[in-house]
Amino acid sequence: MEPPCMVLKDLTKEFGGLTAVDHVNLEITPGERHAIIGSNGAGKTTVFNLICGDLKPTNGQILLFGQDVTRLPTHKRIAQGISRTFQINKLFPKLTVLQNVLLAAQGLEKTKYVMYRPMTSYKHLHEKTEEILRQFEMWERRDDLIETLSYGEQRQIEICLALIENPRLLLLDEPTAGLSRAETMAFTSILNKLDAEITILLIEHDMDVAFEFAENITVLQLGALVVSGNKDEIKANKKVQEIYLGTQKDDLEN
Ligand SMILES: Nc1ncnc2c1ncn2[C@@H]1O[C@H](COP(=O)(O)OP(=O)(O)OP(=O)(O)O)[C@@H](O)[C@H]1O
Ligand SMILES: [Mg+2]
Repeated sequence: MEPPCMVLKDLTKEFGGLTAVDHVNLEITPGERHAIIGSNGAGKTTVFNLICGDLKPTNGQILLFGQDVTRLPTHKRIAQGISRTFQINKLFPKLTVLQNVLLAAQGLEKTKYVMYRPMTSYKHLHEKTEEILRQFEMWERRDDLIETLSYGEQRQIEICLALIENPRLLLLDEPTAGLSRAETMAFTSILNKLDAEITILLIEHDMDVAFEFAENITVLQLGALVVSGNKDEIKANKKVQEIYLGTQKDDLEN
């Protein structure tokens, strides 16, 4: 049987006296669409930083694709197939959409240091780039400079960059933050169309997006896991209703 895509066992991260992630246990199956929600400071981004290896846990274990990666450096985890959205400033504003995605693609090539390599040998990269840009309906915009794109479009290009790595597990940290309602809806429908084999873990402030996109949802509060389960279980959970679905819902949509 295929191992879980990701397992967090008792994952804990302390910053001085603050426990940002508090004994979190979570299992994600291959191909699952899973959202992590929780108010500001709940520990969501810290969990991503631990999964990617940008932070070392104080306690606990992280398994990716059946292997314990707790002590592996970030680049080895990426090599195993995890990818995370880039921050907006990783895009080159004075280059075109196509140039940005091709640069990311070429950066992944083992042969990137070979000089005088004919451009035709990069054909597969062009094909992959075209496929991803078409998926995001950005192919027609390929010759536009990044700086002429809207903020929402730039966030979509970040996901294109993450997808070019052919990830098995894609981590998206609030990809819809700052998007208009219309952009958010368009964005969610693109996410729903991504290859079903890619496991996607999404941190989301917008409850509508979380429920629209994910089958399963995990709620964090003050670093601890409140509940994890399918949408219906989450909606029916009393504690979740107290935390979110009532008073704080509007706060979460900023
Ligand atoms: N490098 C760090 N050093 C010290 N404290 C940190 C560090 N990173 C995060 N924290 C603290 O850990 C807690 C969790 O932060 P984290 O960024 O993971 O929350 P979050 O759920 O992603 O919040 P948001 O919704 O605002 O993005 C917060 O109290 C934060 O101030
Ligand atoms: Mg965060």
